[in-house]
Amino acid sequence: MKHFKNITTVFATFALLIGLMTCECAGQWQSRKVQSFDSTWRFCAGEITGAERPEFNDAAWLTVDVPHDWSIQGLAKSENSGEGTEELPVVKGEWKFNKGDDSLWKTPEFKDSVWQVVKLPATWEEHSNYTEDNVYGWYRRELIVSADLQGKDIYINVGKIDDADETFFNGVKVGGLGQFPPHYTTAWDIIRRYKVPHELIHYGGKNIIAVRVFDGVQGGGIYNDGTRITEGIFESTSPAGSGGGYINAGTGWYRKEFRLPGSVQGKRVFIEFDGVYMDSDVWLNGVHLGNRPYGYSSFQYELTPYLKFGDEKNVLAVRARVQQPCSRWYSGAGIYRHVGLTIKDPVHIEHWGTYVSTPEVSEHEATVRVITKIRNQSSSARKVNLEAVLEDVTGHKLATSNATQELKADSTGVFEEVFKFAKPKLWSLETPRLYHIESTVKVEGHVVDGTVTSFGIRTFEFTVDKGFFLNGKHVNIRGVCDHHDMGSLGSAVHMRAIERQLEVLKSMGCNAIRTSHNPPDPELLDLCDRMGFLVMDEAFDEWKQSKTLHGYGRFFDEWSERDLTDMIHRDRNHPSIILWSIGNEIPEQESADGYQMAKRLADICHNEDPTRPVTSACNTLDAAVTNGFAKPLDVVGINYQLPAYQKQRGKAKLIASETASAVSTRGEYNLVRDGDSLKIVKELNSQCTSYDIIAPDWGNTAESTLKAVKNAPWVAGEFVWTGFDYIGEPTPFPWPSASSYFGIVDLCGFPKDRYYLYQSQWTDKPMVHIFPHWNWQGFEGQEIPVWCYSNCESVELMLNGKSLGEKKFSDTKDLHLVWKVPYAAGTLKAIARSSGKTVCTDEVQTVGAPAKIVLTPDRTTINADGDDLSFVTVKVVDNKERVCPNANNLVKFRIEGEGSVAGVGNGNAVSHESFKAHNRKAFHGLCQAIVQSKRERGTIRLLAESEGLQGSEVVIQAK
Ligand code: GAL
Repeated sequence: MKHFKNITTVFATFALLIGLMTCECAGQWQSRKVQSFDSTWRFCAGEITGAERPEFNDAAWLTVDVPHDWSIQGLAKSENSGEGTEELPVVKGEWKFNKGDDSLWKTPEFKDSVWQVVKLPATWEEHSNYTEDNVYGWYRRELIVSADLQGKDIYINVGKIDDADETFFNGVKVGGLGQFPPHYTTAWDIIRRYKVPHELIHYGGKNIIAVRVFDGVQGGGIYNDGTRITEGIFESTSPAGSGGGYINAGTGWYRKEFRLPGSVQGKRVFIEFDGVYMDSDVWLNGVHLGNRPYGYSSFQYELTPYLKFGDEKNVLAVRARVQQPCSRWYSGAGIYRHVGLTIKDPVHIEHWGTYVSTPEVSEHEATVRVITKIRNQSSSARKVNLEAVLEDVTGHKLATSNATQELKADSTGVFEEVFKFAKPKLWSLETPRLYHIESTVKVEGHVVDGTVTSFGIRTFEFTVDKGFFLNGKHVNIRGVCDHHDMGSLGSAVHMRAIERQLEVLKSMGCNAIRTSHNPPDPELLDLCDRMGFLVMDEAFDEWKQSKTLHGYGRFFDEWSERDLTDMIHRDRNHPSIILWSIGNEIPEQESADGYQMAKRLADICHNEDPTRPVTSACNTLDAAVTNGFAKPLDVVGINYQLPAYQKQRGKAKLIASETASAVSTRGEYNLVRDGDSLKIVKELNSQCTSYDIIAPDWGNTAESTLKAVKNAPWVAGEFVWTGFDYIGEPTPFPWPSASSYFGIVDLCGFPKDRYYLYQSQWTDKPMVHIFPHWNWQGFEGQEIPVWCYSNCESVELMLNGKSLGEKKFSDTKDLHLVWKVPYAAGTLKAIARSSGKTVCTDEVQTVGAPAKIVLTPDRTTINADGDDLSFVTVKVVDNKERVCPNANNLVKFRIEGEGSVAGVGNGNAVSHESFKAHNRKAFHGLCQAIVQSKRERGTIRLLAESEGLQGSEVVIQAK
């Protein structure tokens, strides 16, 4: 695995990587060896018979390196293609409709002549004024199936149905999505394509389709005709639905061949996956090693019994099955995290076998407790010695311990060591200092294993009345929730992409991350430890009651204990983690068995790591309290429900685990003429205005949430939904929108205006930001709402050198200032002052026509490791190098030298352009190209050109 710096890192002196692919490297195998297993896999999408067998011929497969996401690469086989099977659209036209529910209505013989004739697609509010919530209705129609299809199965496309359906063909159920009460779930945005087996069909004659529909809230019925539009990787009928960003996944296979030198014989060999999405099966040399359903869990298998050595090759085969819809967001598909091969002596420290905690910490002294599990996998007893050395970051030794135990054959011994040392340097957000434990295992004086484990020394506490304290100091949790995808990189893990996300968030003042709603890539946690972020590490988005058709619910009973335990064992040494979350918006909050389930999971956390509190993000808090669901939680997570901050005051330790869900589009203002002024329209042409005035009905604007959290200091702080935009869940729009509008920054990481609101509230370094842009040709003299965010005391606005007045934050309850400015081309400047002194300024200018392209890389030197990235911002500017706020020119890229384009993007949620192309349209003047290094050192040149514009190039060094 590439990065072993996290929980149990390889003992530096033993970390020499051995070239396992050749037999020449027969060195002395004295201790643990770790080899990245990321390169040179073979990949093929689809269900493939026999691909687990070593002799299977994969010569025609693609060669790929992992982390790899086949979905974003457009390699998925469309589950909807229905190859060889006729699809009959059935929605458009006349149907019979009746309110209510009766099982007789499915039978072909039923006489529906008195039913209402309706024209579909349309909601039943539209065609029948049926406006109640939680009601049933039935649709029926005849379908003539051509005699030409005799003997063939068909698909019927029943379009989108709000919310749940069961569909019958000649009286037999052929499909259904969503769930009917009592465990109601909606599948409102998914196109129904149901297979009808030939035995049910009357060819050349009449068939009856009957659809039973249940509507929870708003807009019931068959409201969409299910027309399939395919644009690149986006497919309107994708089973991923809007939640999954309309991107298909399906099944995929990976294979990797490797050889091991004979000297490895007698050692123990393990393969470790940081994550495979999802439902993976792994085989070595045709032997099935195991299945791991949850795509976010890290896991390992032992390969030893099935290995071959010397010239004989070994073949690993991995199958991942992504049955969509299985997620409420874009999941990606494949071996999307790192893979490592570890070779150990039969006596070794177990996987995730070192657990460091700091039971007592003061300024003067720290007590560090290290529990190490050592396994003797040999066939005889061994006298095992463990030496543990505590070091600071500079490698300075602070304390040492030594213990010996006799371990029986095939047994595990637990070693416990306690260190005390003076004047510890505490881990904090400002100075996130780390220490290390170097553990060395010896048998009969010979070193057989070694690891390095990073940890931090800090105390923290949630309180009922005053919020959160780190090292005794009050800290407001200023966090964001984020999903795991990286925009155009999809879900494939790149350390640098995660690091950049954290950098963007840090400069906004963000100090905490919620890994919504699943265990993250371990590198995120390493980075949070090193960069000074707090983490709410979350296990699940659902338990037994699934939120999507093929959700985790189907695995919950069998796997939840294992998945949660593994997450804690993997992650518990990270000082950044301050909360274990057992779930997000778990539907069982509202059911009687919710308490038992919550208690079982909370107990697992407490047993495996008594040092951290347990939470769950509750969206129906009253029910969670009444049903006892909230009882086992040490800290109660409140999603939205701002009044609950007051209502729960004093009753529990509280965290606003999810807030806002405000939506906006970068650079989009949606100003339309309204008499003498310009009116802000919230939603227009599938885009949300960037003024902070819009949120879904369960959410709130960023500003109102910030105020509510500020007014409730007993709440530990908030996690905003979300830091970054992500693929999928394009609320409030259906197709063609495919990625979210919730982000404070867009899918490329470009800040939206809201970013500066948070910066004004969360940072002290003087800043001021005004918007909108100042290119409103044609609107001269009309009043434009100009908003300003600043952390200074007052701001004066000047238009073309003339003051429009100074405004003070102390004169308003708002967190922003507003001027109505009659538009005149020129420069609008904001001058921010504190204590009467100008401390910073911001301005927008009327800019000219697009004239050229400017490329700005975030780094001009990157590592030549085949993984490192430079994020290049591509600006379309006028002849004075000012970004053109309305430019949407198509930019074409060329790359030369030791690099490639890993992805392109522009932050437009409606764009269906390929993330992997060498061109991208600008969106509000900006787009992005992500340059990835190869494994060779050298120069990388990225060239950008666009018709009618002066092109540009940038040089990046790969070192
Ligand atoms: C929340 C949910 C998130 C996301 C968000 C969108 O209720 O926990 O996963 O769906 O809504 O507003």
